[in-house]
Amino acid sequence: MIKIIHNFIEDQLKKPTLFIDESKLDINFVPEDLPHREKELILLSQLFLILITQPNSASRKVLITGGIGIGKTVTVKHFGQIIKSTAEKRKIPFEYFHINCRKERTGYKILVKIMKHFNKNFPSRGFSFQDLLDMLKDNLNRQNKHLILVLDELSYIIMKNDDIIYALTRINDETLNTPQRLSIIGIIRDISSLNNLDESTLSTLQSNIIHFNKYSKNQIIDILKSRVKISIKPNVIDYNIFDMISNLVYKSGDIRKALDILWASIKIAEERNLKKVSPECVRLANNKTISNFSQDLLISIESHKLILLFSILNVLEKNKKSYGLISKIKEEFQQICEYLKLSIFSYSQIMNYLHELEKYGIISIKIKSKNIRGRQAQVSINDISLELLKKKLLSIFESRGLNI
Ligand SMILES: Nc1ncnc2c1ncn2[C@@H]1O[C@H](COP(=O)(O)OP(=O)(O)OP(=O)(O)O)[C@@H](O)[C@H]1O
Ligand SMILES: [Mg+2]
Repeated sequence: MIKIIHNFIEDQLKKPTLFIDESKLDINFVPEDLPHREKELILLSQLFLILITQPNSASRKVLITGGIGIGKTVTVKHFGQIIKSTAEKRKIPFEYFHINCRKERTGYKILVKIMKHFNKNFPSRGFSFQDLLDMLKDNLNRQNKHLILVLDELSYIIMKNDDIIYALTRINDETLNTPQRLSIIGIIRDISSLNNLDESTLSTLQSNIIHFNKYSKNQIIDILKSRVKISIKPNVIDYNIFDMISNLVYKSGDIRKALDILWASIKIAEERNLKKVSPECVRLANNKTISNFSQDLLISIESHKLILLFSILNVLEKNKKSYGLISKIKEEFQQICEYLKLSIFSYSQIMNYLHELEKYGIISIKIKSKNIRGRQAQVSINDISLELLKKKLLSIFESRGLNI
């Protein structure tokens, strides 16, 4: 058995690869070139320039919003690298730290993580929340440092009503002429999840919002080309393949999915000993990645919208067609809302929610008759199995205490 595996590995290693550097296609890799996010990088630089020109004189709170996989995280990380090296060149004491709230889950863990960034032996337990906040403040004061803290996937922490955001947005001493030590960049997909915050935290965070738009089809092609240039051998991917992948993802604009399909199609081409990726490799790769439809995306969506999605599912299951009429969906939605004792939504609110679900790439809306405004719209669910989606939605409802 060992010999068979040994031979298999040797054979695989002998196979010619189509990659130059596979790690540069990894979704966590931060490339030097970020086509079509120049405007956002400039905006961030303008907002934070004061941290370099007049260190510790000001604090910035910025919120980044926009759909799934459209470069929010990578752009902010790229900006972090630039501003850190700019500060270092000028010998300005400065820190940049990126935290994913989905991974840390509680305010306490976030604070410990920040402390560990300053001191890797910092203990994981044994302090109160307030102790940790005080230590963070002392640390920054002692080192005369300013910290840009990125709270990525912020909605995870907001939904839990954790005090951390309130505490962090107020950590700077507001008295005149005292050094400002902390700036915050929050990253969030769905801005409506901010509604859970208290009003003053909300207004602090909302003072600077940078909304990331979805990439167009041609922009997606440019981005894929730039990633391919550094990771795949020349002439492995023809223009029609870029075009095909872009067509598969442009509705949601999700580059993560595009990179997944690209990577999987190259693997398939390698398995088949091809010198180029063929359209069939892309089709096969696409079928593989669809089943990975992201639970993360659903968890980040606010409950009312998920209930609406659940209503669409029910209508589609009942009528056994590929689409459901908005009038039926509205009826179903209102019945569930009544059952859960939630307020009833107006037609235009429901339409707004539907358009948001469409932006996420979960549903499509087709207007059938333009004379009767919207009411004849048909809604369908694209690539996701209804059964799978229902299971995921029910488990999210359960975790949020919604008894549907
Ligand atoms: N302009 C770009 N150039 C090169 N790569 C990009 C660009 N935009 C996005 N990507 C890549 O696409 C993938 C998804 O981007 P990113 O993780 O930043 O998305 P996001 O907007 O943070 O999504 P989510 O809301 O799901 O966290 C990453 O691998 C990233 O490197
Ligand atoms: Mg992200």
